[in-house]
Amino acid sequence: MITINVSSKKLIDQAVDCYAFRFEQDFSYTRFSTDLKDFERDIYPDLKVWLQKSDFTGKKYEMRVLPVIVNEKLIHGIFIGMGKRDTKKVIPIEQYRRALAHTVRKAIQHKCETIALQLPSASLFGVTTHYLAQQTALILNMTNYRFSEFLTAKEEKNKEIFAVTLCTDAKNKATVQKGVKEGECIAHAVNKARHWIDLPPSVLTPPHLADKAKDIAKKGGLKLTVFNEKQINDMGMGGLAGVSRGSDLECRLLIMEYQVKKKNAPTLVFVGKGITFDSGGLSLKPPAYMETMKEDMSGAAAVIATMEAVAQLKPKVNIIGITPLAENLPSGKATKPGDIIRFYNGKTAEVRNTDAEGRLVLADALSYAVKHYDPTIIIDLATLTGGCLYALGPYYSALMSQHDDLADTIERASENSGERVWRLPLDDDFKPSISCEIADMHNISDRKYGAQTVCATFFLQNFVDDIPWAHLDIAGTAFNVPGIPYFRSGATGSGVRLLVQLAMDWK
Ligand code: BES
Ligand code: ZN
Ligand code: ZN
Repeated sequence: MITINVSSKKLIDQAVDCYAFRFEQDFSYTRFSTDLKDFERDIYPDLKVWLQKSDFTGKKYEMRVLPVIVNEKLIHGIFIGMGKRDTKKVIPIEQYRRALAHTVRKAIQHKCETIALQLPSASLFGVTTHYLAQQTALILNMTNYRFSEFLTAKEEKNKEIFAVTLCTDAKNKATVQKGVKEGECIAHAVNKARHWIDLPPSVLTPPHLADKAKDIAKKGGLKLTVFNEKQINDMGMGGLAGVSRGSDLECRLLIMEYQVKKKNAPTLVFVGKGITFDSGGLSLKPPAYMETMKEDMSGAAAVIATMEAVAQLKPKVNIIGITPLAENLPSGKATKPGDIIRFYNGKTAEVRNTDAEGRLVLADALSYAVKHYDPTIIIDLATLTGGCLYALGPYYSALMSQHDDLADTIERASENSGERVWRLPLDDDFKPSISCEIADMHNISDRKYGAQTVCATFFLQNFVDDIPWAHLDIAGTAFNVPGIPYFRSGATGSGVRLLVQLAMDWK
């Protein structure tokens, strides 16, 4: 993990092996900031000429690296462009996030272990200093994440930055420190979710993830209830038990509770799909589609990790995290296409395709939330449909809700957290796509309706009664998102930043 020190001393007085500077596109060479002037004077007097001769203009993510020897020590200067201001005359904060991430990656590539950077003026991005500091700490830590547990070569294992010094004015120091603490806390949660998702599926099993949740509950003072497979069967949760039947491992249902003292505080329920491996069951997936199916517990990972963050950040709302955990595997005991199962709320479904298992486990979890809590809202997150990846690609999670207020709130949290969502039409016309003659519904939608991501949402709607509810399909955003420098191949921790933001901002 990275340590971030906030300092009100000058950038140039920091004893580090890397100094990083950011530039707005077409910056003025005659109006260098103080920290750049210091660097020019003390470390590299030819700075201006060098930047000019190398045609550096500060275009988006354009980078120059300057190695210099100072007192026999190798020092790097990293210079990166943040691009242009938008129509609101500010630099979009995402451009700052990515420029920062590119800087960190470059520093790691050059084996730097300590970096100093000046926190820019928040007004450049139209945000508060607190928020900018929070985002800085968050992105620094997200970029530094690596899944290296299974690498044996030492030089591969140790590619990390150890310390970052963030320089700021003395008057902002306390605010920046507070923001940094918050950002670190969210980043730890994001990275924890990523780590669980990246773990091989035979390691990260339902009981194993339940143990992780236990640690978190214990540390954070959260109430945790864990139901085992027998209890799940006894409660009549035919969806979760039915999916788990083909597996040699037990399923689990976890309920984590964060409660505030205030009476009548709103209660937000977050539900996350936790299929620790999705082979498709008897409706077996083709090999290529199965390769990354350890990612199918990304929704659950996001919810559990969010609970860890809220235990520390203490939003003023109650939060319940519910995660159904199971493996979806074929065997002589597995649920068969044609089987009819009964859910916790009494409704039934014919399973036509055992690969549409996510909705089955979510059905029981949502029913549980409705029966045992009085939720103000419910949001579920799931790697639910391959169709979502086709529709929106890896950059947008699909948001579906018939409650406009909730959808608006989620879109605001999306904007503030940097996790993008795109709303799809949850139009009643799609409702009949799951109708069935011999059970209340079936688990795959009729082909002629297309839009599998939307149709799957109507399946879930049967389990939430009239409670304001939104479904987020994170099938595209959870894993292997290309081109974003604070991610790597593998898990992204999709959903954590969004849910934490939503909880913190809830009015
Ligand atoms: N876990 C998959 C969806 C998925 C696909 C997530 C790709 C991430 C990346 C889900 O359980 C599934 O198999 N869905 C099927 C449903 C179909 C059989 C109705 C799908 O979308 O193909
Ligand atoms: Zn599936
Ligand atoms: Zn699945």
